[in-house]
Amino acid sequence: MSRASTEQRARVEVLRNEHDGRPALYEATLRSLQAEVKELPPVWLYDERGSRLYEEITRLPDYYLPRREGEILRVQAATIAGRTQASTLVELGAGSAKNIRLVLDALDTAGTLERFVPLDVSEPTLRASARAIAAAYPRISVEAIVGDFERDLDLLPEGGRRLIAFLGSTIGNLYPEQRATLLTALAAELAPSDALLLGVDLVKDVARLEAAYNDREGVTEAFVRNALTAANSELDATFDQRLFVYEARWDPAHEWMDIGFRARQAHAVWIQRLGIDVTFQMDEPLRVEISSKFRRERFELEAARAGLQVESWWTDRGGDFALALVPRDPFAGS
Ligand SMILES: C[S@@+](CC[C@H](N)C(=O)[O-])C[C@H]1O[C@@H](n2cnc3c(N)ncnc32)[C@H](O)[C@@H]1O
Repeated sequence: MSRASTEQRARVEVLRNEHDGRPALYEATLRSLQAEVKELPPVWLYDERGSRLYEEITRLPDYYLPRREGEILRVQAATIAGRTQASTLVELGAGSAKNIRLVLDALDTAGTLERFVPLDVSEPTLRASARAIAAAYPRISVEAIVGDFERDLDLLPEGGRRLIAFLGSTIGNLYPEQRATLLTALAAELAPSDALLLGVDLVKDVARLEAAYNDREGVTEAFVRNALTAANSELDATFDQRLFVYEARWDPAHEWMDIGFRARQAHAVWIQRLGIDVTFQMDEPLRVEISSKFRRERFELEAARAGLQVESWWTDRGGDFALALVPRDPFAGS
């Protein structure tokens, strides 16, 4: 681990893995583009422009997820702070770290909070949000980590009581096998007084789900198209936006939104940096992201298989979204 920089005034420290994560991403990209259903890994969505577009998405009327999560947090944050008494709050995939402020506020009010540790692959976004949090919460230290939550959990600082938050239904962007691996790794990472806080989107009316990813303004499409632009620029690839039609549809068998493109015609894309030609048939899909939607029983089962027990499951009034509080060991008195 190296200390990339310390910005003294705001007390923001940015740590990163000495092994730059790009080779692992290129390897994953090579594998995914050669898979039966071709895929560009979702990490390509979140360069600086992508992170800005995601911020715009969170303000779209049909993209209900962050608002519903905020609604639950406004009601439950004090309870979460009281039960966890966390001194370190970690957020995996922190992005612009908006909803987490409700937890920061509650822990700050409870008087236990000492440190905030946002972790994200997108360095510019991470730096901006770490600075903003440090300015808004001058009593705590902010130790940001540029890293991948699937590979870099060993970079998380130890000690104290830790609450590890994974909000925004980002866990739904992982396939079931990836979720199992991550939950198992998190279970191994947790010390006896630590806990997880997970935000998950729930299965609901298909029209509402599809509307959330097909806004009329085209912001979500621009966000997903940006992954092609990012891959073109970093991988010297030749994805031609005109040859891909955006598509985000509900997959009832897997209970996930399948988000990406269909090839308008048969063609090939040259990816110089990976040394491969990827050929597409007409109408062939190119997936960029899935967004799994959960049911309580399935989520509890996944957690149990990783050796974790959901202690509390809270939803918003409409039952759209859920927050699960998962302590390593049962909280005292619960
Ligand atoms: C859906 S956004 C959620 C942001 C924020 N937690 C929220 O609730 O608004 C997902 C975030 O996870 C980050 N991310 C995606 N894949 C990641 C990975 N494998 N490791 C670390 N961060 C990742 C993205 O850069 C992005 O900031």
